[in-house]
Amino acid sequence: MSDEVATVALPTDSQPGVVEMSKKQRKRLLKVEKMKEKRPQWRAEQRAKEKEKRRKRKAEGEQLPIVKKRRMSDDSASSVRIAIDLGYDQLMADKDIKMLLKQCKRCYSENRKAEKPVQFYLTSLGGKCEEKMDELVSGYKSWNVNITSKSYIDQFGKDNVVFLAAESPNILNELDPTKAYIIGGLVDHNHHKRYCYDKAVELGIQHAQLPISDYVTISGRKVLTVNHVFEILLWFVQTGSWKEAFQKVIPFRKIDKNDDVSKTAVSDNEEETSAQSPTENQT
Ligand SMILES: C[S@@+](CC[C@H](N)C(=O)[O-])C[C@H]1O[C@@H](n2cnc3c(N)ncnc32)[C@H](O)[C@@H]1O
Repeated sequence: MSDEVATVALPTDSQPGVVEMSKKQRKRLLKVEKMKEKRPQWRAEQRAKEKEKRRKRKAEGEQLPIVKKRRMSDDSASSVRIAIDLGYDQLMADKDIKMLLKQCKRCYSENRKAEKPVQFYLTSLGGKCEEKMDELVSGYKSWNVNITSKSYIDQFGKDNVVFLAAESPNILNELDPTKAYIIGGLVDHNHHKRYCYDKAVELGIQHAQLPISDYVTISGRKVLTVNHVFEILLWFVQTGSWKEAFQKVIPFRKIDKNDDVSKTAVSDNEEETSAQSPTENQT
């Protein structure tokens, strides 16, 4: 099909007016708009199908695991605070922002399933991250998460935060309920090495790395994905054991089988992994 420029009106009420775009661009835009319109119905159908499948399996006598969803206000909840700082949209391509949001969604769903959910925050929500959240993550505004446009410093205070950074010389051994632990919401395939660490030093805030080396063998850099870091902290809160937390979260394929069971090899090349499962994630 030819890709000549045509003058067309944007097909949404929210963006009225006339802009110049090619037929190809227009077609793509229309497709996205159609998908957006259909998404709620598609979701409802998927949910109904899942419900029906569970009903059938139950009727056949299968014992289905009951996943109780918990809230941060439950009696069993932990007072540990973990925030994902979303203030890096300028450093990410759209596809990486999308991946980051998927990782945040995964953190949210893991926190809801945990016996002791942590106090979970998304800070500095704005700009492109907010646009993409509005576009792609339906219903996030009613999530059981503290979502704010404030920075983590404004939210918690400079002296009450510990920024997590793989490059920090400090090792995190315990979680202090008086501190908030900040994870950099950055999916950058290591293009911005040490970015968050340098920022933490510049701001004069506390920083620490996860105690990976004590439990896993590292053959490369120790940079994990946002959701892996969140899930390791979450599991540590559940069990009080870093060993268990690392074993549960770090992908099986990364385990160095010549080493003892808790030792894992993480290399730069192995960091390419989706937020759907712990074995497919992107840093
Ligand atoms: C994919 S990494 C981002 C890497 C990025 N180049 C940077 O400078 O932060 C996402 C975030 O996970 C956290 N993180 C990753 N690996 C970590 C580790 N080994 N210890 C502590 N935090 C880690 C950091 O907060 C980091 O900002």
